[in-house]
Amino acid sequence: MHYLVYVSTARHLLNEAELMAILEKSRSRNTADNITGMLLYKGGSFMQVLEGRAEAIEMTYARIGQDPRHEGLILLRKGKTEKRNFPGWSMGYRAVNADDLAKIPGFVHIKNGRFTDQAIIDNPHIAMTALKAFNA
Ligand SMILES: Cc1cc2nc3c(=O)[nH]c(=O)nc-3n(C[C@H](O)[C@H](O)[C@H](O)COP(=O)(O)O)c2cc1C
Repeated sequence: MHYLVYVSTARHLLNEAELMAILEKSRSRNTADNITGMLLYKGGSFMQVLEGRAEAIEMTYARIGQDPRHEGLILLRKGKTEKRNFPGWSMGYRAVNADDLAKIPGFVHIKNGRFTDQAIIDNPHIAMTALKAFNA
């Protein structure tokens, strides 16, 4: 089982309908591709984990990278995992705010709470901790 985690910036602030459209498409494609994961959205930035077969997540990540709804993708981490961390989600989703993130150990140190903060980029385990915290 392989996984990858990236962060990105929305081209503009997305409304609920736009986010739901992304999620609906993601869930149907990921179900077909046997991909699971979690997507967090906060004030214009995304953080997402994809897990599944290596080729499947690479192809999906390449497609996501071409999507004009966001830009500046930064791949934080990719690797192998013994078992899925998000087995129940074709794509879990949470819109989070600063208070939600402040409850996560380590996240409170992130300066402005954006997923593209240098502190997250330097410490990708914080990203995974945050994603797992919303896996419920
Ligand atoms: C932040 C973000 C996350 C996305 N996540 C996924 C995903 O997990 N799986 C997926 O298939 N598409 C995802 N997409 C959508 C893809 O970029 C792309 O629009 C879609 O897969 C194309 O599907 P189609 O070729 O069937 O139209 C995401 C898009 C954005 C902006």
